[in-house]
Amino acid sequence: MTVHFIGAGPGAADLLTLRGRDLIAASPVCLYAGSLVPEGVLAHCPPGCRIVNTAPMSLDEIIAEIVAAQEAGQDVARLHSGDLSIWSAMGEQLRRLSALGIAYDVTPGVPSFAAAAAALGVELTLPGLAQSVVLTRAEGRATQMPERETLPAFAATGATLAVHLSIHLIDKLTAELIPHYGPNCPVAVVWRASWPDQRIFRATLATVKAAVPVEVERTALILVGPSLAQEGFEESRLYAGDYDRRYRPVGTHPRFPGTGS
Ligand SMILES: C[S@@+](CC[C@H](N)C(=O)[O-])C[C@H]1O[C@@H](n2cnc3c(N)ncnc32)[C@H](O)[C@@H]1O
Repeated sequence: MTVHFIGAGPGAADLLTLRGRDLIAASPVCLYAGSLVPEGVLAHCPPGCRIVNTAPMSLDEIIAEIVAAQEAGQDVARLHSGDLSIWSAMGEQLRRLSALGIAYDVTPGVPSFAAAAAALGVELTLPGLAQSVVLTRAEGRATQMPERETLPAFAATGATLAVHLSIHLIDKLTAELIPHYGPNCPVAVVWRASWPDQRIFRATLATVKAAVPVEVERTALILVGPSLAQEGFEESRLYAGDYDRRYRPVGTHPRFPGTGS
C-alpha cells in the first residue's frame, strides 16, 4: 500500500501530469484538498472510489483515513492544488507517514505561479532585468514569516516576486515594495489562473489597489517586477549567432569541437 501525493495543478483539469492521472485512476481512495482541486481531476477516480474532501478535517483525521486505507490494503491518491513543494502541508503528512512506516511517493504538479505566467504570456526571468523568481507570501493569520523573509528584504534584490496568499494585504504589499521597485513598477494579478473564470489585472505598484476589484480574493497570485513589462531586456546568449556552444560550435577554434551533432 502506498500513499501517492499528487500535485493536482492550478485549476484546469487537463493541467495534470499523465503520471498523476494514472495514479488517481489506480487508487481506490482519493483524499483531496478542498475547492482548489477541480472536479475534472476527480473524474479520473475509479468507479466506487472513496473520495474525501479533507478541507474540513484535522491532520489527525486525515492520517486516520490513511491508516484505514492501509489496513484495507488500498492505495491512496492524495491531491493538493498546484505543486506539492510549496504551501501544500505535505511536509507534516510525510512526517506522520514516515513515523507510521507507511510508504509514499510524490508526483509534481503545475504550480500556480507558472499557470499565472502562462496566462500572462510572460517569461519571469529576462536577461538584464531579473534572473531570479522569489516564491513568497505576506504574513498570514495562521503563518508567521521568519524574521529575515520580509517582502522588503526580497524586494531589495530586484528579483521578480510571485506573492501567494496575500491579495487581501495588497495595501501593505505595495507600501513595502514601492521604496524598492518604484511606483511605476509593473504588477500583474492573476485570479484563478487556468480556471474558466480566470481574470487578469495589469497595473503598477501605484495603481494595483484600485485596479483589482474587492471581489477578487483568495485564489490570486501577485507578480511584481520589471520583467512583467516584457521590454527593455537583452536577448539571451543561448540563441545568439556568435555564441560558441556545445550544440552550435562557432569559429575556427570552437570550445566543444566535434560535439555538435
Ligand atoms: C495554499 S497555496 C497553494 C499553492 C500551490 N501549492 C501551488 O503550487 O501554487 C494557495 C495560494 O496559491 C495561489 N494560487 C493557487 N491556485 C491559484 C490559481 N489557479 N490562480 C492564482 N493563484 C493561485 C494563491 O495565491 C493562493 O492563495
